[in-house]
Amino acid sequence: MIILDDLSLSFSGNVLFEHVNAKFLPGNCYGLIGANGAGKSSLLKVLSSQLDASSGNVIVDSNLRLSVLKQDQFAYDAYSVLDTVIMGHSELYKVYAERKEIYEKEDMSEEDGIRVGELEDQFAELDGYNLEAEAEKMLSELGFSEQFFDYSMSELEAGQKIRVLLAQAIFGDPDILLLDEPTNQLDYQSVLWLENFLLEYQKLAIVISHDRHFLNKVCTHIANLDYKKLEVYVGNYSFWEQASQLAMKQKKEDFKQREEKVKELEDFVRRFSANASKSKQATSRKKLIEKLRPDAIPETSRRYPYINFDVKRPCGGKILTVDNISYSVNDTVLLNDVSFTLDHQDKVAILGDNSLSKSALLDILSGKLTPDSGTVTWGDTIQFDYFPKDHSHFFEKNLPLLEWLGQFADTVDNQELRGLLGRMLFSGDDVFKKIAVLSGGEKARSMFSKMMLSKANVLLFDEPTDHLDLEAISSLNKAFKQYPEIMLIISNDFELLDTVCNRVIEVSPVGMIDQKTSFDDYMTSDAIQKQRAKLVLV
Ligand SMILES: Nc1ncnc2c1ncn2[C@@H]1O[C@H](COP(=O)(O)OP(=O)(O)OP(=O)(O)O)[C@@H](O)[C@H]1O
Ligand SMILES: [Mg+2]
Repeated sequence: MIILDDLSLSFSGNVLFEHVNAKFLPGNCYGLIGANGAGKSSLLKVLSSQLDASSGNVIVDSNLRLSVLKQDQFAYDAYSVLDTVIMGHSELYKVYAERKEIYEKEDMSEEDGIRVGELEDQFAELDGYNLEAEAEKMLSELGFSEQFFDYSMSELEAGQKIRVLLAQAIFGDPDILLLDEPTNQLDYQSVLWLENFLLEYQKLAIVISHDRHFLNKVCTHIANLDYKKLEVYVGNYSFWEQASQLAMKQKKEDFKQREEKVKELEDFVRRFSANASKSKQATSRKKLIEKLRPDAIPETSRRYPYINFDVKRPCGGKILTVDNISYSVNDTVLLNDVSFTLDHQDKVAILGDNSLSKSALLDILSGKLTPDSGTVTWGDTIQFDYFPKDHSHFFEKNLPLLEWLGQFADTVDNQELRGLLGRMLFSGDDVFKKIAVLSGGEKARSMFSKMMLSKANVLLFDEPTDHLDLEAISSLNKAFKQYPEIMLIISNDFELLDTVCNRVIEVSPVGMIDQKTSFDDYMTSDAIQKQRAKLVLV
């Protein structure tokens, strides 16, 4: 069990939450929800003692093993995949690593022999043999064949690392599991695997997510962080949505009724306070007014950014020609003979079972990767801008936000930049925040400001809705619909693809399909489904 006792957190005077009292009980899976920047990740850091609260206490039984999905994808680069998973159980890992080191020695001394005997006993006591097999089983269920177990973490791409870190968090059946947006960058199969894991998990889990479908599937409770408070509801996301809408409606009605009553009483006081015979009544009504006067309805942190991508100049005649490009990594084919030409008004959904293939295509178009063969030719009038899936390299230099954005402006006009950041919900002193402290959604909004500045006439997006709250997704969807020029979009958000795109290009290691059609028609056409079946590797 975790108890939050009068817990408050603020950063330089900015209150994220205050006087929070809540209990998290074993057997439940809590979905921690709230707007981008509300303080969810910070709260999880307080729960796992990575961050100190401003005041109040977190009470956790000291004999419970708490496990956190690590966000730092590079922290384990020096270790093998299997070792990284086993590190999830630090006590077991100590024994495991020392034992492994001795076994790897070319000649073992007598002392080593004795030590290894002791370690074997300890390993068995900690159920190490079963757990090692369990780690391997988990990795293979997450799509890693045996050859990957000894790979170094540095050899994996982002999506693969996330899967290993997930296995690490879950390894050895922890008593408390804290997951911060675990489905971001996970492929569809791994999301299903995680859903099943959480459904069967009997202990305490707290999961941050913006994915309604996922929350509905796995959560027994919803903990909503808003109005600087945390409120826990029984039920999944849909129950929370209905309950909170009803509560808000009642609050507004109550507010209105109280306001009307106060007005009525104030009228009476105004009319009769000078009247001696009624002055007693007027005084008692004054007291009633103070009692009834409603507190202002607190402001929600759920707000819509205003996103719109203008263009400096429209695309000329020739936009983009892609000729027979192929690309492989370590003998694994990602793209095979991809060719297409972009036309005016094209808004293209890039599909494919393998997220590496899709990302490689946009990386090649943007010049970040060079294809093994084939050519990419952009038209002379084209200026493109790219939102890569992993945009962490944009945030390496820890500048204040305003200065960070200034790097991408032709001429720095702080007033204009502040206006732009304001529309992205960074107001007042927020623009002086160092970019390292920005939340996941805030970083994505900063990237959108950068792209709004560039006024490019071709926009490439790889999973732009990862990290975004519902309000930001809805604003982005609107901006995509209104954008007058060319877009190529990779997204797991099918509604976004269906409402924006008029062309679909699907890539696989076997080949490609290119159809001028909506996403829904693409998915439901029998003829296209037959073609798609041929794209699967046999
Ligand atoms: N060390 C810090 N100093 C100042 N501000 C900070 C610091 N750490 C976080 N913040 C700010 O606190 C707020 C909450 O951040 P947090 O990462 O907890 O949000 P979140 O709810 O997880 O959002 P998201 O859904 O985007 O991940 C953000 O506005 C962030 O910029
Ligand atoms: Mg967060």
